[in-house]
Amino acid sequence: MINLSTTYLGLKLPSPVIVGSCGLTKSLKALQACEAAGAGAVVLKSIFEEQILAEAEGQVPDEEGGLFHSEAYEYLQEYGEENALAASLSLIREAKRCLKIPVIASVNCRTSNRWEEFIHRLEKAGADAIELNINLLSSDARLAGPELEARYEELLAQVRETATVPVALKLGYHFSALAAFLFRLSHSGPKGLVLFNRPFFPDFDVEKLELTTGRYLSSPTEYQMPLRWISLTSGRLGCDVCAATGIHSGETAVKLILAGAHAVQVVSVLYEHGIESIGRMNEEIRLWMQRHDCQRIEDFRGRLRQVDSPNPAAYERVQFMRHTAGIE
Ligand SMILES: Cc1cc2nc3c(=O)[nH]c(=O)nc-3n(C[C@H](O)[C@H](O)[C@H](O)COP(=O)(O)O)c2cc1C
Repeated sequence: MINLSTTYLGLKLPSPVIVGSCGLTKSLKALQACEAAGAGAVVLKSIFEEQILAEAEGQVPDEEGGLFHSEAYEYLQEYGEENALAASLSLIREAKRCLKIPVIASVNCRTSNRWEEFIHRLEKAGADAIELNINLLSSDARLAGPELEARYEELLAQVRETATVPVALKLGYHFSALAAFLFRLSHSGPKGLVLFNRPFFPDFDVEKLELTTGRYLSSPTEYQMPLRWISLTSGRLGCDVCAATGIHSGETAVKLILAGAHAVQVVSVLYEHGIESIGRMNEEIRLWMQRHDCQRIEDFRGRLRQVDSPNPAAYERVQFMRHTAGIE
């Protein structure tokens, strides 16, 4: 009997295919559809501190409204934040009531002093785990790599002290010494790393000469970035790894598990081909396992990682040279 169940962040998942945080995980109906299609877990749409604060601002009447008394302002500000958070907290409660699969809340904060509070609220609402969506773009020419990396470590340290449920960190890949950073982070307390977040990309409209939105869905070849880094680091990290970005098929999910991932997250494929894609991916994984005589995910997880490879140098090739890459 082939069994797709796996463990990620200490949670039992019926399938390694998790629905990543996106617009499809912000209503109970869509979450139920994800579970019915065979998802192993769901990561809810991130709660963005920025957005909560902006919505809260919208609830506070301006000075001309005649209510500009500091205590009243504070009260209304808090009330606004409360309202803005309420929808997310109630979705967690409903999801926990209606779903059997784990419900992972996601939070993105701008200022470090609000993380603890948000996380406490999400836990109280029933989230099985928290995914921290941290994406600090290294765009400040005065901010050196170690300083930026230290910010991630500080945020993680704060959250680790507060959180009672497992915490995963979802990261981008713009770090200069990625393997060393992942190693250090993974040994400083998270239960999991999600590798990698695909950021929002701007683009240019060359007719209007304006900044526009870039393609927001991944292409099916983008999995090669997580594949490289998960296979290079698997067996050396101190926590679970969930692969993300460019995973559009069961075959690709198998590749990432062979690299060492405990689970995979999918988003773009669901936008492009519907939530039913999860069922197709599960079936493709099952058929592959059948062909390769694997009963459980653990039978093949990490089988192609660098640490166990007879040819570890092959994982570190970066140049297109004919005698190594066989191209040209
Ligand atoms: C429309 C949309 C909304 C997203 N919203 C979030 C979000 O709120 N929080 C987050 O951590 N990631 C968010 N993401 C990123 C996805 O969770 C995922 O990491 C990324 O799309 C790469 O996976 P994919 O290649 O399967 O799409 C969003 C992606 C899309 C396309």
